[in-house]
Amino acid sequence: MRSKLRHVIDAHDFDPTFLEELFASTNALRPDASPWNGNVRKWKQDMYGQLSGYLMYSLFYEPSTRTRFSFETAADILGMRVRASENAGQFSSRAKGESDQDAVKVLSSYHPDIIVIRHDEADTLLDIAKVSSAPIINAGDGGGQHPTQSLLDMYTIQHELGRLRDLTIVMGGDLRNGRTVRSLAYLLAKFPGNTLIFVAPPGLEMRPDIKDYLKRKKVAFHETQDLDDAIQDADVVYWTRIQKERLTPDVEYADVARQFRITNLELARMKPKSILMHPLPRVKEGFIDPKDGEELINELAEECDTDPRAAYFRQAQNGLYVRMALLKWVLGSK
Ligand code: NCD
Repeated sequence: MRSKLRHVIDAHDFDPTFLEELFASTNALRPDASPWNGNVRKWKQDMYGQLSGYLMYSLFYEPSTRTRFSFETAADILGMRVRASENAGQFSSRAKGESDQDAVKVLSSYHPDIIVIRHDEADTLLDIAKVSSAPIINAGDGGGQHPTQSLLDMYTIQHELGRLRDLTIVMGGDLRNGRTVRSLAYLLAKFPGNTLIFVAPPGLEMRPDIKDYLKRKKVAFHETQDLDDAIQDADVVYWTRIQKERLTPDVEYADVARQFRITNLELARMKPKSILMHPLPRVKEGFIDPKDGEELINELAEECDTDPRAAYFRQAQNGLYVRMALLKWVLGSK
């Protein structure tokens, strides 16, 4: 029996050796790996039962498509049992005023082996973990972190470009409120030779905690408003949506949403051997700008999807495989 629970709360906790091991195990359990070579039916048969007898709880206090489905599907494919509350804010006793600590204390007494939580506030999961008898996995905490997303992001970079060091990475969009870029910056800082370039509308710049961390770690980074210039040297362009739900009143969505967009024009400036990533969701809706009546669409134009460098749907699929490997690691099963 392990004495210490393997909580997954903060991307800081991962070191390069852990990533290497996790990614090797991810590579070995992909359906396109040998012996399945893309035979998904056979792959599912072989995966099933690897974690049978284990129980996962999944509590989501914020909306989610990829993170929730990939976690729950990963558990299903490995033969775990899953109990889920997809709208836990409304359909748990939090709506009656219960604290999340009390809820998790009780839920963990029902003998789950893992509790996956997407929380609506940053920095609360450590306190919740203190009362849990099962490992807690952070599936995104407000404007805080998204450690498992950063794992699949790093895996995607490794898988697509073959390395995690000596890279120039442009991160763009809402860097202030987006949690994926925060966790990813922590992980990229752990590998030598990486340079980070931040491109954000005014008011949505990367917060000082990350920049101070990068300075302490002597990681090269700079901030610019010149997207065209930044992307031409990038190995990775990591784009993100404006986090409309987290904007402070001083920032007007229509103003910031129109500032930077990735279209085929921007793609044309990227190196032939580079990748365009996005954690998704991208914003689909257009809106009419009251100032000039122009219709704005999204931060990442659909016309980019057919370019081989557009890695975001492969990135999202990798989330399933990385989370399968992560569940096995958390449960101590190789
Ligand atoms: C992200 C999230 O929830 O932080 N989505 C995801 O998990 N893939 C990104 C976002 O919401 O913009």
